[in-house]
Parts: sequence; C-alpha cells; structure tokens
Amino acid sequence: MTYRIGLIIGSLSSHSINRRLSLALRKLAPEELEIFEIGIGDLPLFNADLEGDLPAAVVAFKHGIESADGLLIVSPEYNRSIPGPLKNALDWGSRPWGKNSFKRKPTAVIGASPGGIGTAVMQSSLRPVLAFLDAPQLTAPEAYITYSADVYGEDGTVSNESTREFLTHYLSEFAAFVTRVHANAPGHIGE
Ligand SMILES: Cc1cc2nc3c(=O)[nH]c(=O)nc-3n(C[C@H](O)[C@H](O)[C@H](O)COP(=O)(O)O)c2cc1C
Repeated sequence: MTYRIGLIIGSLSSHSINRRLSLALRKLAPEELEIFEIGIGDLPLFNADLEGDLPAAVVAFKHGIESADGLLIVSPEYNRSIPGPLKNALDWGSRPWGKNSFKRKPTAVIGASPGGIGTAVMQSSLRPVLAFLDAPQLTAPEAYITYSADVYGEDGTVSNESTREFLTHYLSEFAAFVTRVHANAPGHIGE
C-alpha cells in the first residue's frame, strides 16, 4: 500500500534549514510513503472577507491537503511559536466553516533550529491547533532537530549515521501510524 503524504514546510526562505531537513526526509522515506510538497508561499493573508469566493491559491492548497493520505509538517520555531506563514496556512485549510481540510488527516510534526531546543516550543504550540483541527497526530517518537550544515547535505544526504537512523526510524513510525489511522477509519482519508 502506498500513501501520498503532503509535505508542508513552515519556512518560506530559499535557504531554509527546514527545507534542507525535508530533502533528507524525502530521501530516507520508506517506499510506501510518496511525499509531495504542498506550498504555502502563495497563500494570501487570511481574511474572512475572502471566504465567499476563495482565492485560487487557497483552493489549490485545500485540494492538496484533501488529496493527501497524510501530512508531514516540517517547520522552524519563530519566537517560541508557530511561524506566521504556517499558521496562516492552517487557518485557510480550516475554512470555510464545515470545510476543514485537515479533518482526520494523520499528521506528523518535525522541525529544525540551529539551537538545542530544536523547535520543541513551536511543536507544543502546534499540537493543540492540530488537535482542534481533528488531525490525528504521531505523538511518538518526537523529533526536535538541532541543525548542523555538516550533517545535512544540499542533496539530502545525512552524513551522521545516528541522525540517519533516527530519521529513518521516525519515518517508519509515521508510515505505521498512517497505516493504523487508515485501518481504523477506512474511506475517510484522502480522495
Ligand atoms: C522571526 C524569527 C524568530 C525566531 N525565533 C526562534 C525561536 O524562537 N527559537 C529558535 O530556536 N530559533 C528561532 N529563530 C531562528 C531560527 O531557528 C533560524 O532562523 C532558522 O534557520 C529558521 O528556519 P528556516 O531556516 O527553515 O527558515 C528565529 C528566527 C526568526 C527569523
């Protein structure tokens, strides 16, 4: 069984270390996870005035989420919380009322920062939002990544063996989680 996993990167920076981490995750993912990116950079700032006639970028974003069998969110921490672009995307995906695209999407959260905290505080802000959006979450293992340019290559290679093993384990646990959610709620996930 192959699952299509939508990748959401919480940074818009072209030099993003979280984009670099995403590349490594894509490379290490098990065969059953087919990862595709769902961009958030073209979304307008959320404005309820636009809900009656959704902008094309919002329609495309919501379709990306709804077509996925699961979501992998890879995000930095900004000021001990969720980066604005990511929160904006979550808000758009949740709307209009009754059309929450995240409902029942098995979701995993991971993030990298240069410091030792490894986005832990951002993740603890993000989890209640995902819970409210009714997105089942992989709760273990947790993944707080301290980024080092020596470890994460431009081509997605991970030079440190224990980091590679950790990320591989994380992804295989995510694959097992997606499988479990699908088994328990057939017909509700993806389209
Ligand atoms: C507005 C802003 C706020 C930040 N706040 C935090 C923070 O709270 N915790 C942290 O570990 N790093 C923080 N940083 C540093 C980021 O971890 C670092 O810039 C990282 O490279 C951002 O991820 P990205 O490269 O994927 O965009 C902050 C950076 C910015 C630009």
